[in-house]
Amino acid sequence: MSRKMDQDRIIIFDTTLRDGEQSPGASMNLEEKLTVAALLEEMGVDVIEAGFPIASNGDFEAVSKIARTVTRSTVCGLARATRNDIERCAEAIGPAPLKRIHTFISTSPLHMKYKLQMAPERVLAAVTDSVRLARDLVEDVEWSAEDGSRSDHDFLCRCVEAAIAAGARTINIPDTVGYAVPEEYAALIAMLVGRVPNIDKAVLSVHCHNDLGLAVANSLAAVKAGARQVECTINGLGERAGNAALEEIVMGLKTRPDRLPYRTGVKTELITRASRLVSTITGIAVQPNKAIVGKNAFAHESGIHQDGMLKNAQTYEIMTPESVGLNQSTLVLGKHSGRAAFKAKLKALGYALGDNAVEDAFRRFKDLADRKKDVFDEDVQALLGDAGVGTVQRIRFLSLDVFCGSKQPPYADLELEIDGAPRQVRATGDGPVDAIFRAIHQLFQHSARLQLFQVHAVTQGTDAQAEVTVRLEEEGKTVSGQGADTDTLVAAARAYVNALNKLLVKREKTAPEAMTA
Ligand code: KIV
Ligand code: ZN
Repeated sequence: MSRKMDQDRIIIFDTTLRDGEQSPGASMNLEEKLTVAALLEEMGVDVIEAGFPIASNGDFEAVSKIARTVTRSTVCGLARATRNDIERCAEAIGPAPLKRIHTFISTSPLHMKYKLQMAPERVLAAVTDSVRLARDLVEDVEWSAEDGSRSDHDFLCRCVEAAIAAGARTINIPDTVGYAVPEEYAALIAMLVGRVPNIDKAVLSVHCHNDLGLAVANSLAAVKAGARQVECTINGLGERAGNAALEEIVMGLKTRPDRLPYRTGVKTELITRASRLVSTITGIAVQPNKAIVGKNAFAHESGIHQDGMLKNAQTYEIMTPESVGLNQSTLVLGKHSGRAAFKAKLKALGYALGDNAVEDAFRRFKDLADRKKDVFDEDVQALLGDAGVGTVQRIRFLSLDVFCGSKQPPYADLELEIDGAPRQVRATGDGPVDAIFRAIHQLFQHSARLQLFQVHAVTQGTDAQAEVTVRLEEEGKTVSGQGADTDTLVAAARAYVNALNKLLVKREKTAPEAMTA
């Protein structure tokens, strides 16, 4: 039975690479986006929103590369209701066997008056024109009513009807500002099902932001009211408080078929891998008590719970850790492991890297295996979040020696390669980390400000790698860099260098006005 005909099948539309990437510090480079897209495809995600092609050359290139490599999921690009946006989007997704243009315009009184400065009748005309244009270019068109949940119902019905008449196959009603509550949002979807005459010609979709912590609840309520596509992101990444979390939507449906008798095509066993991948790449940590993918989601601390678990796991466990791909940390490879075994591990972890990046990662792995007895999957993932993978590296970390302690001011002897030339410097600071960052600054002058410095242990034990995340901000642009090493200070230097390299790439991006959605 086709997806559209199967009334219980929920289409999972992942927007980690578009809405997710819009969250502060979450920007990903091309290779990272390809890696995430490959894993989403392997997971069985139906639609991958790969980016906003008009936003920058980098976004265009990423969408177009993903369109060349992803064959089983639909590759979707976002476009505002303008000819330039829509044509650029069509060009970017062109190579994909399954492709979709997602075009949107605001329909709420507030957005039309202040953001668009357009009268409702002009917005309505733009709906028809934009969808028609998109349909001239591709078969599969999605139309979104931005700020749909705060729109006037009569006007929203007219826009939805017009979009379907112009050829939209999917109608998305975003709760753009995360304002809705479940009952109200479900009623909105039911209202559209009941009132729009041609609604049976399209799939209704929901896209919920999490400003009140209700994104997943709203999405599931909407499914019960007739929505058959849910837009979501890995780890709930997204603008402000984020979007509905894919893992929560999918596991909610899987765990409660008695109340939610719907299915998705997602291989839930890949959820943990996807969560770790996105967290490592973006440097945005998952809170320990986060549902499904938090470190504590399957941990049972209290004696009473542990006792119950030993007697029967179902006493305190509503789903198994295995169902989301959570097993004991897997021992990866030893220091005698060769390139082939390492490559196989990268593939199993979902990484699709070019030859140079694999070589770089392999060198780092060997180096780590010399210093750390057991190397786990998490160690390899942490290494890959580092400077070695994917980023165009104008700056490379070469070496670091730090002197610190309680008697004398600390200093750092740092060696970097900048645009191919090795350079070194000694700098002092308020502490060893400050000394390192000052040394980087002396070797590569920049105006970015440090917004976040975060350290966490990748695995347990005193020989664990430290994973450091550094977030830098320059003229409103934020980037996160990661560094991993058994030496926390080396990890800090690597993370800073990684962030700087990302910033240099980002400087080239020019975002048109009002680009966020
Ligand atoms: O939140 C929103 O309204 C969006 C749309 C572009 C779908 O992201
Ligand atoms: Zn959004």
